[in-house]
Amino acid sequence: MKLLVCGGAGFIGSAFVRVRLGAGDEIVVLDKLTYAGRRENLQDLEIDFVHGAIEDPDAVARAVEGCDAVVNFAAETHVDRSIAEPDAFVKTHSQGTYVLLEAVRERGIRYVQVSTDEVYGSIEEGSFTESSPLAPSSPYSATKAGADLLVAGYVHTYGLEACICRGSNNYGPRQYPEKLIPLMILNALHGDPLPVYGDGMNVRNWIYVDDFARGIGTVLEHGVPGEAYNVGGPDEAPNIEVVKRIIELAGADESLIEYITDRPGHDRRYSLASDKVKALGWEAAERFADGIGRTVEWYRDNAWWWEPIRSGDYRAYYERHYGRSLG
Ligand code: NAD
Ligand code: TYD
Repeated sequence: MKLLVCGGAGFIGSAFVRVRLGAGDEIVVLDKLTYAGRRENLQDLEIDFVHGAIEDPDAVARAVEGCDAVVNFAAETHVDRSIAEPDAFVKTHSQGTYVLLEAVRERGIRYVQVSTDEVYGSIEEGSFTESSPLAPSSPYSATKAGADLLVAGYVHTYGLEACICRGSNNYGPRQYPEKLIPLMILNALHGDPLPVYGDGMNVRNWIYVDDFARGIGTVLEHGVPGEAYNVGGPDEAPNIEVVKRIIELAGADESLIEYITDRPGHDRRYSLASDKVKALGWEAAERFADGIGRTVEWYRDNAWWWEPIRSGDYRAYYERHYGRSLG
């Protein structure tokens, strides 16, 4: 199969590209290369690369030429940035998804929209199923939910062969260090303070990135058009437990923990029931207890990957957001 992977230079998209190259697919990546998109993530992989935005119909037309299916990872992905500057979230998720849907409609090819558990909002107990109502709480999740609804509208109106795949919080190699796990790993390795929002008791459901990538492949191959599939990880934990485990693995000290002002509108807990994708044959392979160790090791061994980030524009972002500089 020849696949167009939009946002394939990011964290999950590049893991998906690796999985699919391993399965024998031919890959074209379309990526705007925002701060989070990096050619390094696709280093040494045999792919075609188109530098462009999903909201640009010409770039999309060039990239989709000859492809049998499109998988869309392209997104702005950080909740805190969506609170500070929602503009790009609206553009990429709304206009970008629309342009891609038009391109696949014109060509009659299959489409998978990569989405998130955050579209369902927060849940204190139990888990969301695919028929739970969408109740997003941040500009990030609201614009992701809007994109999901646009996909559903295209399926209903035009009979598009499209599925939606909603993942829980991913972790693993090549995640930009604005997100909880890589941020805490790099700060712990450098002896920088570990900024925990609120009481540290917000709960996330963690999935190893390769498991999510395989789940998306399962939906691409076996998903029923028009259906959404939850792809959740096998373990959940309050943030403070995750941070303490990282401290242990990095050989740092708990005195680095600093409780800071909570994120506005901070969702308390996410949880997904993933029975529907399991019925298609998918199962998570990595437990958090093992995956987090491998992830800390990867960051320890791959300073070449994060050094340019940590010494570049990221420092200004960090200062703006946390009100202090990195060591
Ligand atoms: P990421 O921020 O690491 O990468 C996003 C990629 O999209 C980057 O390569 C960026 O350059 C590219 N991009 C952004 N805007 C673009 C545009 N307008 N046109 C073309 N390319 C553009 O993100 P990620 O963590 O790999 O997330 C990928 C997808 O998975 C997103 O749709 C996200 O909502 C979803 N998701 C992420 C998580 C998670 O925990 N990270 C969980 C569930 C779902
Ligand atoms: P994040 O990685 O931003 O993912 P999301 O908000 O999309 O789930 O954050 C994961 C959790 O960690 C979330 O509850 C917010 C919290 N968090 C902190 O406590 N400190 C931080 O510096 C960051 C970035 C996140």
